[in-house]
Amino acid sequence: MAPSFNSSNSLYDFVVRDGNGVKGLVDSGVSEVPERYIQPPRERIKKHDSGVCDAPPIDLSKLNGAEHEKVVDEIARAAESLGFFQVVNHGVPLELLESLKAAAHTFFSLSPEKKAVYCSGVSPSPRVKYGTSFVPEKEKALEWKDYISMTFTSEEEALQYWPNQCKEVALEYLKLSTKMVRDIVEVLIGKLGVTLKDSEMERLLGMKMVNMNYYPACPNPDLTVGVGRHSDMGAITVLLQDGIGGLYVKVDEQNDADKEEWLEIPPIPGALVINIGDTLQILSNGKYKSAEHRVRTTSSQSRVSVPVFTLPKVTERIGPLAEVVEKDGLARYRQVLLQDYMKNFFGNAHAGKKSLDFARIN
Ligand code: OGA
Ligand code: NI
Repeated sequence: MAPSFNSSNSLYDFVVRDGNGVKGLVDSGVSEVPERYIQPPRERIKKHDSGVCDAPPIDLSKLNGAEHEKVVDEIARAAESLGFFQVVNHGVPLELLESLKAAAHTFFSLSPEKKAVYCSGVSPSPRVKYGTSFVPEKEKALEWKDYISMTFTSEEEALQYWPNQCKEVALEYLKLSTKMVRDIVEVLIGKLGVTLKDSEMERLLGMKMVNMNYYPACPNPDLTVGVGRHSDMGAITVLLQDGIGGLYVKVDEQNDADKEEWLEIPPIPGALVINIGDTLQILSNGKYKSAEHRVRTTSSQSRVSVPVFTLPKVTERIGPLAEVVEKDGLARYRQVLLQDYMKNFFGNAHAGKKSLDFARIN
């Protein structure tokens, strides 16, 4: 029997506080999207209004060969324009990609009680967090998404605290994607005419987080969002998506909702999606684009995705690289402590690229 949610509060308690998530809501038998999930018209994602990004995936194995320069240019160009690209021969075996998607389904299929032990406040580790939407307490309309987030400190800690259903594959994914992340960031920093010391690179890429996102099938994808418009805050994000699709990136900085243009990043079997985050936009003084993106839900199937976020350590101060500022003649962003940037980022509902205002110099 579908529970009746007499007020928006009882729905909120069921989904957010009690840890049932959107998955629990769907399993309870709701046949339409509750009011609390209905997005204002501007935020709704019209499938037929968007094109598909047809850029072929970049072959990362060519970074080590005769075509090195060509691939470097492809990466830099994508980072400057769309802020999104896909890669193949990335060093993560295809079987592991399959296992990750399966592990995500296994985890979210657990009973609400088993997942709720990882809710913020009760989780055995502050670095493992199960939740729903993004910042529910700040959001007028909730996002149609549940997630588990795992911040890496050591293998030992991960094996002790990360959920059994996903810890081994998530750790392996993180380990095997680290080189690719470093290579790509090195290419991008190099293109700015800057070489960072190993220790500086280490600090820039010092924090890693693996998430598993679960977007249950939704009775009305036209009214909801899986994830609202946002940019990611780290240096770069590596994202595994399944075959369902629904990830959209905004093409330019157009802020007039009627003129916005969005492109779908289509699922490509075996490929991983890379996107530039706020940290690289700030470091490059705006040359690289932290892409605004969002996710549409689907009515027929549940979608999973598995991002790895690579961020500077929280104790780091980030700002535009001195060499770039000198060349540009001005700094577009101020120096910010990552801890402060993060607090602002996770303290507000998704709102496009508003997160960058925290560091912007007007
Ligand atoms: C994110 C995100 C996209 C997706 O987790 O930040 O943008 O396809 N995910 O799930
Ligand atoms: Ni994102």
